[in-house]
Amino acid sequence: MNNFIYHNPTKLVFGKGQIARLPKLIPAGKRIMLTFGGGSVKRNGVYDQVVAALEGRDLVEFWGIEANPSVETLREAIALGKERKVDFLLAVGGGSVIDGTKLIAAGLLYDGDAWDIVLKGQAGKTVPLATVLTMSATGSEMNSGAVISRYETKEKYAFYGDYPVFSILDPETLYSLPKRQVACGLADTFVHVLEQYMTTPHQSRLMDRWAEGILHTVVEIAPKALADERDYDTMSEYMLSATLALNDMIRMGVTQDWATHMIGHELTALHGLTHGATLAIVINGTLRVLRGQKRGKLLQYGERIWGIAGGSEEERIDRTIAANEAFFRSLGLSTRLSEEGIGEETIAEIERRFTAAGDRFGEAQNVDGAMARRILEACL
Ligand code: NZQ
Ligand code: ZN
Repeated sequence: MNNFIYHNPTKLVFGKGQIARLPKLIPAGKRIMLTFGGGSVKRNGVYDQVVAALEGRDLVEFWGIEANPSVETLREAIALGKERKVDFLLAVGGGSVIDGTKLIAAGLLYDGDAWDIVLKGQAGKTVPLATVLTMSATGSEMNSGAVISRYETKEKYAFYGDYPVFSILDPETLYSLPKRQVACGLADTFVHVLEQYMTTPHQSRLMDRWAEGILHTVVEIAPKALADERDYDTMSEYMLSATLALNDMIRMGVTQDWATHMIGHELTALHGLTHGATLAIVINGTLRVLRGQKRGKLLQYGERIWGIAGGSEEERIDRTIAANEAFFRSLGLSTRLSEEGIGEETIAEIERRFTAAGDRFGEAQNVDGAMARRILEACL
């Protein structure tokens, strides 16, 4: 096991009716900026619950943070927050609103342009932020990462900001999610675990089994969550699985991959494809091309998650990669680039971008532009 420091300060407040706790959770005397997406929280009653809970508090609202939040919009939020001297941020929405709010939190205390913070990869000082989560997928409610797009150049990069002070997770807020968002959220959760698990075997039994626990749970609940998004117990398990998949817990002392994500972010930047939908495609190419390097873990994953035993090791790996792809298909997502009308032009652009930046991703740092091309070609 490798050395590590684990420090996750986010307080989780989980369950029905917990939005009512907001006044106790946010210190008195704060000027609070509430940040929102395009309006789903008005339609499902979450906005009403938040403003009712915060009645009498000093509030500033900012609407319009897009899915795949843009620096162009976030600059406006930062300007408003500076003008109104905001000193607490409450993101009410999914990963995009939360990620965008992490950039606002850093931008409020930064004199230059917000895109500098994204390019640096690390925020300096930040204003405290908290969240009311309405879409489970990214784990942003309990991690310090954020992914920001710059629409004018079709770029999308991650940076590290601060952890939310607290996050309210009420599974009932997920009842209004469209099925495709649930499918993309389950796919994102599943691939977050694979990015931290599908690397080198025998690093930590404990991390492996925590990761496998989340994978098993997602496989078990996926059909139920897609059939009835108003089933409280199922949505609770989905919500907590997504948070635990990317809150630093399953990565203690083990190597990580993240190449699938980096390639997926490019597909979103270039085509606007939803994040989870990009992963459902790219992960299959990653496993096909890197099957030699990931051999031990593929055999373990096949046996423990999909019950694949018997036959030669090569046959078992073939069946495991097929089972993995079938899972994403069962969510109703595409697993091939061609199904999304994406081909050589995009592959060439991603290869060019990775090569120009000198990027090398993955647990072996061997996913460069040429390897990204091979992975994408294996997804056609
Ligand atoms: O904007 P509104 O109207 O709120 O609609 C949203 C949006 O259109 C809607 N929605 C959210 N909650 C809803 C709802 N609709 C009905 N009922 C509800 N309860 O869903 C749409 C998608 O929301 P979004 O926040 O974009 O989804 P998600 O949570 O999947 O976030 C995706 C973003 O997070 C980044 C992705 O790259 C992408 O930009 N990621 C962030 C990570 C992190 N911070 O650690 C890691 C991830 O790997 C990921 O890269
Ligand atoms: Zn993700």
